[in-house]
Amino acid sequence: MTILDGNKISDDIKAEITREVELIKSKGEKVPHLAAVLVGTDGASMTYVNSKVKDCAMVGFDSTLIDLPEETTQEKLLKVIHDLNTNDDIDGFIVQLPLPGHIDEHEVLMAINPDKDVDGFHPTNVGKMTLDLPAFISATPYGILELLERYNIETSGKHVVVIGRSHIVGRPMSILMSQKRKAGNATVTVAHSRTVNLKAITQQADIIIAALGIPEFLRGDMVKDGVIVIDVGITRVPDSTKKRGYRLAGDVHFDSVSAKSEYITPVPGGVGPMTRAMLLKNTLLARKWRL
Ligand code: GUN
Repeated sequence: MTILDGNKISDDIKAEITREVELIKSKGEKVPHLAAVLVGTDGASMTYVNSKVKDCAMVGFDSTLIDLPEETTQEKLLKVIHDLNTNDDIDGFIVQLPLPGHIDEHEVLMAINPDKDVDGFHPTNVGKMTLDLPAFISATPYGILELLERYNIETSGKHVVVIGRSHIVGRPMSILMSQKRKAGNATVTVAHSRTVNLKAITQQADIIIAALGIPEFLRGDMVKDGVIVIDVGITRVPDSTKKRGYRLAGDVHFDSVSAKSEYITPVPGGVGPMTRAMLLKNTLLARKWRL
């Protein structure tokens, strides 16, 4: 069993990006600038956004955090997005999800200029990605492709089972894995909450991408020997033995599944850091594509 080390690979990617930023600076050009919009005080979202800002500093990007109160109106948020769309200093920006219930998430995502949509959530980017045209690929699926590629994992002709059909992970992952690309050319099954006899399907999988958001859902008896497992889940599970009151759990029951796996991602330290690195990569691309 080999651990797919997202911390190490993301460090490699960040080092590559840092070198590119040094080159940009040496030519006297403007370094990439990422803005992140956070609405409200959701604990996990605050952690994620602060990490994204820290990552920017680490590779030499400029960053701006726009921290808005929970009661921010739709109109005000759309105005902030409009300002970011038209601010020439900002190369790319993200609006952290989930948004408070009174905000129409679809309208917000639609308002982002696709050329600055480094999350790749705008329908223009989703459509281009689906057609295999140059586009911002959302960071988690992009990070998983990169992890598979950098470990030279053969995916061609393999049966990939994606569990989960979210717009952010499951759906794009299933499209990307079936396309003609290095980490691609797979035969893909998308399983979800209405799938009948999921165990019979996961037991046939060469590669499983678990992205359903239920802690420790995938267990050892659901996989075959030699399976490759990518765990996208990261849920805060209450745990009174921990100082912070919770532990982080993936969608995979690590002990039972890893015993049968050829490769597996840990939680934390697998997909999470790859997502963060690929947001930086997209921001660098946004800078280059705007030149
Ligand atoms: N919430 C959970 N994942 C993400 C992400 O990748 N981008 C944004 N904007 N919000 C998220």
